[in-house]
Amino acid sequence: MKFRAYFNRLFPIFLIMVLVACNKKVPEPENNNKMYQFSDNFLWGAATSSYQIEGGIVNDWSTSGIDAGKASDHFNNYRKDFQIAGELNTNSYRFSIEWARIEPEKGNFSDEAVNFYKNILKELRKNNLEPMLTLHHFTNPVWVKEQGGWENEKTIQDFLEYVDFIVNEFKDDVDIWITINEPNVLAFKSFDAGEWPPFKKDRKTALKVMRNLLIAHAKSYHLIHKIDSAAKVGFAQHIALLYPNWSINPVDQLMAYFQNKVFNQSYWQSIISGELNISIPGLEIKEPFNQKLKDTMDFIGVNYYTRWMVTSSGKQITKTGVPVTDLDWEIYPQGILETLRMADKYAKKLDIPIYITENGLDDRKDTKRAEYIVSHLKKVWEAQQEGINVKAYMYWSLIDNFEWAEGFEPEFGLMNKERKLRESAKIYAEIAKDNAINKKLANKYLD
Ligand code: BGC
Repeated sequence: MKFRAYFNRLFPIFLIMVLVACNKKVPEPENNNKMYQFSDNFLWGAATSSYQIEGGIVNDWSTSGIDAGKASDHFNNYRKDFQIAGELNTNSYRFSIEWARIEPEKGNFSDEAVNFYKNILKELRKNNLEPMLTLHHFTNPVWVKEQGGWENEKTIQDFLEYVDFIVNEFKDDVDIWITINEPNVLAFKSFDAGEWPPFKKDRKTALKVMRNLLIAHAKSYHLIHKIDSAAKVGFAQHIALLYPNWSINPVDQLMAYFQNKVFNQSYWQSIISGELNISIPGLEIKEPFNQKLKDTMDFIGVNYYTRWMVTSSGKQITKTGVPVTDLDWEIYPQGILETLRMADKYAKKLDIPIYITENGLDDRKDTKRAEYIVSHLKKVWEAQQEGINVKAYMYWSLIDNFEWAEGFEPEFGLMNKERKLRESAKIYAEIAKDNAINKKLANKYLD
């Protein structure tokens, strides 16, 4: 009886204790708390281009007054650079081959240059970094410049001969090829804005250059597949999100609409339809259906940085009152999702994946980079949840480098030129290691 009375009195307390104990969650180890998990086999990497980092290159830029000089002196430090890149827990790396180094004179291919890039590929393998190789990143040999560069259709054939040589040399070490980096930027900066060599301001020529670059891409696509049928070939498209500056002004709307059409979409549209169409009102470049142009992408490469407001005069300006980078580019993470949605319409038609081939910022004090990376990657994760097949993210850039007409001031690097990794690089490394954004980073950097 006595026992029973005790039992009756204590049982509820005992029960509460058991329930409390069961309800208590086992504390999860910090850092291992993956909150936004990316798909398996995701490619994590950093990107660079030859002229911006190697140093000692003579090409159409260096001979036009925009000389990178020693650049980041990667030519003499590539082993160390890839060792450091290996510490980022990344599994890939995007870089470009310098046409001017490989073929300094027409038809004369340099063994020394081939060895340099072979060594680069060897080092990448050693550090478990899958190469993503760009064949053309804005620069040309001097002899190409002298024959009129990409204004001259003959350059297409010359480029193909260079591509033929490179792919035969490197096919065993490279699976992913980017034919041309940002043909839209190259054409408009060099032939419309007149800011890059050959400093022309002639929109008609800019469109013609876009046309020639697109044909060069399509022909390279077939050539690369002829040499290596398993290769994955695409190009890197720069997406500038273009919004009307004054959203209810129809002229601003029209300007933004036409700029978006020609700059962002005309290549993808031409490739999907097989009918080349790079036109703006008053200037038309249209060509009939061409089977050799159609479907020439095994993946969609996108470079996304920011969005611009388009005024009624067609100027692209930074929105006022928004967070910006040191180059005064708006920090707009939602834009990477909008970019992926735009690319996805084309990717779905061809059933191909999307690779983010560049994304990054100029942040000289390294106070914004970590948040920029985490917030943009959260949007990439959202894209995956929407069913967008995005399979790679290359941060621009591995190292501070020569930012074209802006020179050496901007600092996009995960490391500086003294080869010191920035604090933000360690955040990127944490994400790459986990293939996820963990709770700690989400709490710190996301709203
Ligand atoms: C280019 C890079 C450049 C980066 C930052 C991209 O448009 O491909 O070469 O450094 O933007 O401006």
